[in-house]
Amino acid sequence: MKSPIGGSPLKIAPSLLAADFTKLASEVRRVEEAGCDLLHIDVMDGHFVPNITVGPFIVQAVRRVTKLPLDAHLMIEAPQRHLESFVKAGADHVTVHAEACGDRLQEVIRQIHSLRVSCGVSLKPETPVSVIKDYLNEIDKVLLMTVNPGFGGQAFMPQVLAKIRELRAGFLRDIEVDGGINRKTAREAVAAGANVLVAGTAIFGSPDVKAAIQALRGV
Ligand code: DX5
Ligand code: ZN
Repeated sequence: MKSPIGGSPLKIAPSLLAADFTKLASEVRRVEEAGCDLLHIDVMDGHFVPNITVGPFIVQAVRRVTKLPLDAHLMIEAPQRHLESFVKAGADHVTVHAEACGDRLQEVIRQIHSLRVSCGVSLKPETPVSVIKDYLNEIDKVLLMTVNPGFGGQAFMPQVLAKIRELRAGFLRDIEVDGGINRKTAREAVAAGANVLVAGTAIFGSPDVKAAIQALRGV
């Protein structure tokens, strides 16, 4: 299926959360050689979400082994305190949650731009698109969570499809989906208007990551 944005190709972002961290460098190379477009790094703080994962230190390590653009998906409270560390560590895209910014969202978006990286804003499944409507012209990418953030390997929530359609009606930049993405759900998300697909289990859980990436790209 063609990307909803001017026929440009879909972008595939493997989520490192599903990689084998005992051999991180070769896992990164495996998806880079397989032709993915960017790497998605899930940062969790044990407050905004119940789980704890990685911080700038790991972003910096990944930066040393790949030229792929790195997208730091910050599932953390008060992200403004850490933006600079993630950019210094080598993140090219920084994605914050609107729910974690509250009424400081515009300030945080501007802070990300001032660090000269691309700015993503993410919404949990239950958060309406209306919370970001006033800032859409300042956002490079909207990340619509298709599971409740916190863990890999969960089932895609089809009720988010309506949000993708609603956002796509007035937003011409990247719409990314994250959580439970496989061939079937990717097809539904792309038909609704998504053009960037994050996938952990469907890529790293596959014995042939290249085939898995091509399958997602070809939905
Ligand atoms: C969940 C994370 C996702 C997750 C996706 O909070 O944001 O990036 O790793 O994993 P899968 O593709 O396994 O649902
Ligand atoms: Zn993520």
